[in-house]
Amino acid sequence: MPELLASWIRDARRRTEALAAALTPETLLGPRLAIVNPPLWELGHVGWFQEKWVLRHAGGRPPLRADGDALYDSIAIPHDARWSLPLPSLAETLAYLAEVENRVHRWLPGAAERDLYFARLAVFHEDMHLEAMAFTFQTLGYPAPPLPRAPANEEGGLASGDAEVPGGTFLLGAAPGGEFVFDNEKWAHPVELEPFRIARAPVTQAAFAEFVADAGYRRRELWSPEGWRWREAAGAAHPVYWRSEGGGWLRRDFERWVALEPDRPVVNVCWHEADAFCRWAGRRLPSEGEWEAAAAGEPGAGGRLARRKRRFPWGDGEATPAHAQLDARILHAVPVGAHAAGDGAFGCRQLLGNVWEWTASDFLPYPGFEPDPYREYSQPWFGTHKVLRGGSFATPARLLRSTWRNFYTPDRRDPWAGFRTCAP
Ligand SMILES: [Fe+2]
Repeated sequence: MPELLASWIRDARRRTEALAAALTPETLLGPRLAIVNPPLWELGHVGWFQEKWVLRHAGGRPPLRADGDALYDSIAIPHDARWSLPLPSLAETLAYLAEVENRVHRWLPGAAERDLYFARLAVFHEDMHLEAMAFTFQTLGYPAPPLPRAPANEEGGLASGDAEVPGGTFLLGAAPGGEFVFDNEKWAHPVELEPFRIARAPVTQAAFAEFVADAGYRRRELWSPEGWRWREAAGAAHPVYWRSEGGGWLRRDFERWVALEPDRPVVNVCWHEADAFCRWAGRRLPSEGEWEAAAAGEPGAGGRLARRKRRFPWGDGEATPAHAQLDARILHAVPVGAHAAGDGAFGCRQLLGNVWEWTASDFLPYPGFEPDPYREYSQPWFGTHKVLRGGSFATPARLLRSTWRNFYTPDRRDPWAGFRTCAP
């Protein structure tokens, strides 16, 4: 296991360095926006987090930089102050990252199992920032970051219709005694689910274009009161990266404009847009319990859900490129019919990978929640965020499982998030 962990640490850091290599003097800091971090700060923060939790907290070592906490502590430094810090140069930042990584590799072989938790935490934290930095490149219209690419399954087509999922007592969340999980997944607890029907695939760009064409953004009755206020304040008349041209739509993919891809999932829509689409389509968003039952559930006795849960929709084995679009092999979504090998027990496709999926659920603690040592991971965000599930094409497979919960405020359009719908 330490060898696998060491390979994860190396893999995440090589990706971080590849992304850093694409930055220019103009893009090192970039514009001051609420939804991005200055990349130069974010790079240093990733190294600081690893140093803080692995070398300092678990390893008991003194800080490498006297100014590390003052520069890179995301809890202490207000977001909009991050552009005006006396940040080290890119070369100095990368040297700091390399020094931290070298020391972690030297510490790893003798570390106690309970301390390896913090090395995993730092890798997963880096994975999340890498995806967020890739969002930043999309948000700001930079060319796609040169992350290592790999052959990807882009087979076309649709997965249409609904899957039928039986009701029953479903154990929502992660079971104790297994692998690393985040505090917000703890612990599996019974929820009662009625039988439901959930789309086999996420909503496509073609379907979303019908909603736009049917005045979806102009009909107040399709929006919640909060959603309508958001729509008016944002001036939203279509998805944020769409532009009409010649009677059709183009979509901005990093710095390039491409024609809509009818059988690929709509992406970069916020929760309010997903919610309005559902009202227009006579559908609804799944609760996160329903989503997780579609992903992890199995048919049981008496036409009810089984007690057993799968780690992934396809079973318990690790994700391969056939199962799901993950790991930033490519930096765009594939058609919703791709990855049949990753179907869940009830026939839902692409539950993991390709695009994050908004759920109806507020991000709330599970019963008995207690924060883990990184106390600010989940707790500050309960009640104000919506839950997303599943991961995007840019999410590392090592981060995910069927119980993994992501969370954003309902106005965020920058994540690679789409949604799937349920029958009412
Ligand atoms: Fe962070």
